[in-house]
Amino acid sequence: MCGIIGYIGDKDAVPVIIDGLRHMEYRGYDSTGIAVVDEGQQLWVQKKEGKLGHLEEKLNGYPDAGIGIGHTRWATHGAPSDDNAHPHTDCQGNIAIVHNGIIENYAPLRRRLEQEGHIFRSETDTEVFAHLVEHYYNGSLEGAVRRALQDVKGSYAVAAVATAEPDKIVAVRNHSPLMVGMGEDQYYLTSDVPAILNRTRNVYFLEDGEMAVLTRDGVVFSNGEGQQIEKSLYHVTWDPMAAEKGGLPHFMIKEILEQPQALRETLRGRIKDNRVDFSEVDLDSFVDGVEKVFITACGTAYHAGMVGKYLIEKFAHIPVEIDIASEFRYREILWGENSILVVISQSGETADTLAAIREAKRQGIKILAITNVVGSSVAREADKVLYTWAGPEIAVASTKAYSTQLLLMYLLAIYLAQHNKSLPAGEIDALVGDLSRIADLVETTLKNAVGVQGVAEKYHDAGCIFFIGRGLDYAVALEGSLKLKEISYIHAEAYAAGEMKHGTLALVEEGVPIVALATQDELEEKMLSNIREVKARGAVIIGIGKDGMVELEHEADELITIPACDSRLAPILTVIPLQLLAYYTAVQRGCDVDKPRNLAKSVTVE
Ligand code: AGP
Repeated sequence: MCGIIGYIGDKDAVPVIIDGLRHMEYRGYDSTGIAVVDEGQQLWVQKKEGKLGHLEEKLNGYPDAGIGIGHTRWATHGAPSDDNAHPHTDCQGNIAIVHNGIIENYAPLRRRLEQEGHIFRSETDTEVFAHLVEHYYNGSLEGAVRRALQDVKGSYAVAAVATAEPDKIVAVRNHSPLMVGMGEDQYYLTSDVPAILNRTRNVYFLEDGEMAVLTRDGVVFSNGEGQQIEKSLYHVTWDPMAAEKGGLPHFMIKEILEQPQALRETLRGRIKDNRVDFSEVDLDSFVDGVEKVFITACGTAYHAGMVGKYLIEKFAHIPVEIDIASEFRYREILWGENSILVVISQSGETADTLAAIREAKRQGIKILAITNVVGSSVAREADKVLYTWAGPEIAVASTKAYSTQLLLMYLLAIYLAQHNKSLPAGEIDALVGDLSRIADLVETTLKNAVGVQGVAEKYHDAGCIFFIGRGLDYAVALEGSLKLKEISYIHAEAYAAGEMKHGTLALVEEGVPIVALATQDELEEKMLSNIREVKARGAVIIGIGKDGMVELEHEADELITIPACDSRLAPILTVIPLQLLAYYTAVQRGCDVDKPRNLAKSVTVE
């Protein structure tokens, strides 16, 4: 996913844009660039492969300019390079474009433009757009952009400036996020709120097909037909510091430690009289008569959905099917009567998840979204939205978003149980009571986990690490494995503990570290047998269990405990030591914890 920033106002545009890019590097960072229209109505473009710092080194001095656009790139078409970095310009260097998304028909368009004499300087799909705008430009930048988009198929958030109209930024969104920030006679364009939080909290979110024209006199919005429209202004409540590291070395550790607060925020207002209350979205009519729930998501969000499946079936006695979003559309979904689709997405912009939403909508299925970003595409395309209030999650590796997604899975499962009367009142009382204290239990778990750093230092050189568990522990083991591999680059695999003997046990040899999750009371004996099974082959056992599990303490070479709790609530606690294990291992290995190689925070391409 790329990051777009634009500015027009009475300040120097270059520093404002660079500052905005810095707050968005996590969105994609194989190259960055900037284009401003200077006082002499000349276009000044600088771009550089690598992280933002490489571009800054190039900016020795810059022109006076009160208007410009910037971009951080996560490559889709064309390898990371100076030439492939955005902004891209037309042949004459009078128009500059930045783009987030994919132009699916760029190849035939490029051929057509080259036959018309256009000279291309990059391998990107985006450059096609710059030449299309050049081709259609006839004195109106918004007219040329709108006409160019008629030729384009795909997903995009684009912004354009032109020397012929030096006081105008034109921006359009279609499937990739774009928003406009309103300052005091300063106007900002961005892909993501944290980029401008230190400048304004008042934001307009563009819908698909909408255009924004930013000038020094303000911002005019229009719809896909070119009709001027009025839009609702959002007041973003995030504290700008929340998007900074707060003095900690990495966003990831900050966000791990923020989980108690994120859970409290997400719970706020959703428990009343010891019952789950979703009156914020009026779910009652939405879930009336639901006979089947489908869940789809990607990555960590998918792992949260796996826990959701267990819980909804266990509490509400409703059958649940779960799919990885990129697979969802390619199997024959037997929706049945009264099905709903629950989609989970931290960013709310994941292309695979959005594609699943659009396929389900095409089939008339009602959609409930669980997302962390107000105004995100997922939020606006679903029928109902339950927000995780985790605040901005900057680190590529998702932590507080995951635990708040889990919390919403619990709340949803209990809510459905309330609705279906599938659990005795006393059991709902107990579950809701425990959930009310979950943030305190997470705080205790964070304190208990002080030994994790030492474990990470011991095993950070391992060639491969397994995570095993049963039931809910297996779902969390998948998340622990993903965390470790995505930031420490150690090969890790999660396995249903009972499945090891059907093949993977062959990989267990002397010294192989195995993280064994054993928090499910009714599975404890079986889990202990699995632990002994791998120990007998030389495995080193890093046990994760509840306080007081004497047998596990005896079997484990390393033991990290969570506070005693209802096993069904354990996942929100069990994941904490796994997040910390991944974090400290990555730090020990000198990895770029917040921006791991090859990955981006939000994947807006399929
Ligand atoms: C999580 O640590 C990963 N960065 C990744 O798997 C992520 O969860 C996935 O891309 C889904 O993102 P979303 O929640 O924003 O849709």
